[in-house]
Amino acid sequence: MKGKRPWSGVFINRRKDGQLWHSSITITPLCADESWYYIGVFRELEQLPSGFYMPQERIGHIQSSLLKVLAISCEIRDPGIESHLVRVRDLTEALVRYHNERMQLGWNEERLSRIASASILHDIGKSGIPEGILYKPGPLADYERTIIEMHTYIGVDILEKIFNEINDELFTSELTASKHIILHHHERWDGNGYPHKLAGDAIPIEARIVSIVDVFDALTSKRPYKEKWSEQQALAYIEEQRGTQFDPDLVDSFIHLYEEQKEGLA
Ligand SMILES: [Fe+2]
Repeated sequence: MKGKRPWSGVFINRRKDGQLWHSSITITPLCADESWYYIGVFRELEQLPSGFYMPQERIGHIQSSLLKVLAISCEIRDPGIESHLVRVRDLTEALVRYHNERMQLGWNEERLSRIASASILHDIGKSGIPEGILYKPGPLADYERTIIEMHTYIGVDILEKIFNEINDELFTSELTASKHIILHHHERWDGNGYPHKLAGDAIPIEARIVSIVDVFDALTSKRPYKEKWSEQQALAYIEEQRGTQFDPDLVDSFIHLYEEQKEGLA
């Protein structure tokens, strides 16, 4: 019951005759007259009319693993891609949790981990971009930049094809979060990004989160056309872009998170 958040879990019980049965319990904290109360809802899972029960943790693990495999397959041409993707996913998870707490957004566990899992797909559309342009070491011509920007649309196209094929409610909410991230992770807070030139709150928050994390990781990584920046330099850049490229509240969360993590390691 960390942070007075609702908790839910599954119990595996054994009858006297040795047979197993499952039950779920959800406990919701409630504050009234400055006292905390806990309301528990108990449900025997065998009474469900049909289907089978799979614990949320296992569902989360399957979803996250499949999305990771999909992301790696789409970007297999880039040898360092797995570590970049995992770093983006882990940092997205840390930022989304921190921001949820700091801004008291009240997002549930499912939503937090959904955004983290979906973040790994942000660049799957790069699989449709010619290598000569994608890995070009020098500056890009205008037409090459336009082609690279197409990776947002190509990514959504790939995602829709795959999810239409899977067509399972296990992935429905992942589809929405992933779509927002893939399509909008290059939008800017001031409206000068791409592909839709959305500004401010019109940019889905999942995409605003991944945008900061993706840029931070790109800056602190070595690329064929640039040296690796130090974390301090990258952090200074993120702060400088507060309110222009990035959501100001998210930048504040990112900076606080970084400072807290650094203090924790000291
Ligand atoms: Fe991208």
